[in-house]
Amino acid sequence: MKYTLFAVLLLAGLPGIASAVSEPQPPYTPGLGEFMSSIQMRHAKLWFAGKGRNWPLAGYELDELEEGLEDAAKYQPVFKGKPIAEMIGPATGEPLAQLKKAIDEKDSAHFVKAYDQLTRACSSCHQSAGHGFIVIRRPAVPPMSDQRYDARNRS
Ligand code: HEC
Repeated sequence: MKYTLFAVLLLAGLPGIASAVSEPQPPYTPGLGEFMSSIQMRHAKLWFAGKGRNWPLAGYELDELEEGLEDAAKYQPVFKGKPIAEMIGPATGEPLAQLKKAIDEKDSAHFVKAYDQLTRACSSCHQSAGHGFIVIRRPAVPPMSDQRYDARNRS
C-alpha cells in the first residue's frame, strides 16, 4: 500500500520534472511595479535621511533611487505602449540633479525644495503613463523602524 502510493506520487511528479528539464524558464525580470516599489522605499528613506541631516545616507539613498530608475528603464523600457525609458530622464533629471547639489552642499532648505520637486515629477509621470491614481507625497513616518536615519549617535 505504502509502495503503491509512493509509485503513484513518483509517476505523477515525473512529467513535471521532465518539462522542467526540457524547457528552461526564461530569466525572471521584475515588473515595472516591482522596480517602482523599491524606488518608493528609497524615496521615503531619502526624506528621513535629509531631514536628519544624515548627508552620507541621503547621498546613498539618492544613488539607489537613481539606479532603480535606470533598471526600470533598462528592463521595462515600454509599459502598456508608453516609452518609460524615454520618459524617465526628462521627468526626473532636473530634480535629481538639484537633490545631488543640495546633499553635496548640506543645504536643508534646498533639499526640501528639490525633494518636493522630485515627488511631483513621480506623480506627473504616473499621470502621463495613465496611472494618475498613484500619487506620491512626503512620507509621514519612516518606512523601516530598525534603521536610523538621523546623523546623531550612529548605533
Ligand atoms: C517614467 C515614468 C515614471 C516615473 C518617473 C516614476 N514612475 Fe512610478 N510608476 C510608473 C508606472 C507606469 C507605474 C505602474 C507600474 C505597474 O503597474 O506595473 C508606476 C508605479 C508606481 C508605484 C506603484 C507600485 C505598486 O505596486 O504599488 C509606486 C509606489 C511608484 N510608481 C512610485 C514612484 C516614485 C516614488 C517615483 C519617483 C521617485 C516614481 N514612481 C517615478 C511610472 C513612473
